[in-house]
Amino acid sequence: MYGVEAHGARIPVLGFGTWELRDGLAVRMVEAALGIGYRHIDTAQMYENEREVGTAIRTSGIDRREIFLTTKVWPDRFRDGDLQRSVEESLERLGLDAVDLLLLHWPNPAVPLAETIAALNDARARGLTRHIGVSNFPTGLMREALRLSEAPLVTNQVEYHPFLSQKRVLRACREAGMALTAYCPLARGRVFGHPVIERIAARHRKSPAQVALRWLVQQEGVVAIPRSSKPEHARANFEIWDFSLDGREMAEISALARSGGRIVDIAGLAPDWDAD
Ligand SMILES: NC(=O)c1ccc[n+]([C@@H]2O[C@H](COP(=O)([O-])OP(=O)(O)OC[C@H]3O[C@@H](n4cnc5c(N)ncnc54)[C@H](OP(=O)(O)O)[C@@H]3O)[C@@H](O)[C@H]2O)c1
Repeated sequence: MYGVEAHGARIPVLGFGTWELRDGLAVRMVEAALGIGYRHIDTAQMYENEREVGTAIRTSGIDRREIFLTTKVWPDRFRDGDLQRSVEESLERLGLDAVDLLLLHWPNPAVPLAETIAALNDARARGLTRHIGVSNFPTGLMREALRLSEAPLVTNQVEYHPFLSQKRVLRACREAGMALTAYCPLARGRVFGHPVIERIAARHRKSPAQVALRWLVQQEGVVAIPRSSKPEHARANFEIWDFSLDGREMAEISALARSGGRIVDIAGLAPDWDAD
């Protein structure tokens, strides 16, 4: 599978999301995903499954260097020193020496961004991660983070699917040579039953999930990380390389974006998002 190149990182364009996968299910699904061919796994301190993700990576028998692993620091660990300690704890749970990508999970206005970005850079300089980036950063804050960071930020992981325009974030990421990693790429299942997506899917003999993922990865610089608790869904989501959407279909799907299309908008955590 090809990857999106961003400042020396090669991020496999299709990753496997693990939010809500816990205990034995997390181990089984990450093993299944690696067996299917996924080489990019997305976890976070908050998902409480780093131990299981690490176990699955080890038991898969796949060379660690072939797997691109992301974890994320929760905003209550953003102070200098504390952030680095939290990453050491993540690595201990994962049973690994380093992750490939370390993200700030959400902005935290209670801690100066300069302090958090310096700590993130320090984690990288200490070899705890190969690359660094952010998540849920609107463009203004993303530019501020870029300005403060010594090492390049390689991605901004944000919600992105047919019902939410991320035009501004995508443009800002491209300008900065960063990837945009799309979370909730299936709009948590809402892509099913939409007449436009269903029609395009039927034309290609594909499912709405496959069409939504294809629409994302056909956009320059976009990476998608669908999640599933079922091996057959994880496999189907990986089978998007044998068809392509034409310009008209791409535009038709892009036109489905609407205000109110955002799913993850947690009070007390969400920043002021970019206007659509
Ligand atoms: N940075 C952040 O703040 C943030 C926030 C949210 C998510 N994320 C990351 O992004 C990943 C993906 O987002 P998400 O988990 O919220 O949503 P998603 O991937 O858009 O949707 C997951 C849902 O779609 C269903 N599904 C998946 N494949 C399917 C298929 N082929 N057919 C039918 N249903 C299917 C799953 O059900 P089944 O289990 O039944 O397949 C699950 O209910 C997360 O797991 C996490 O790693 C990051």
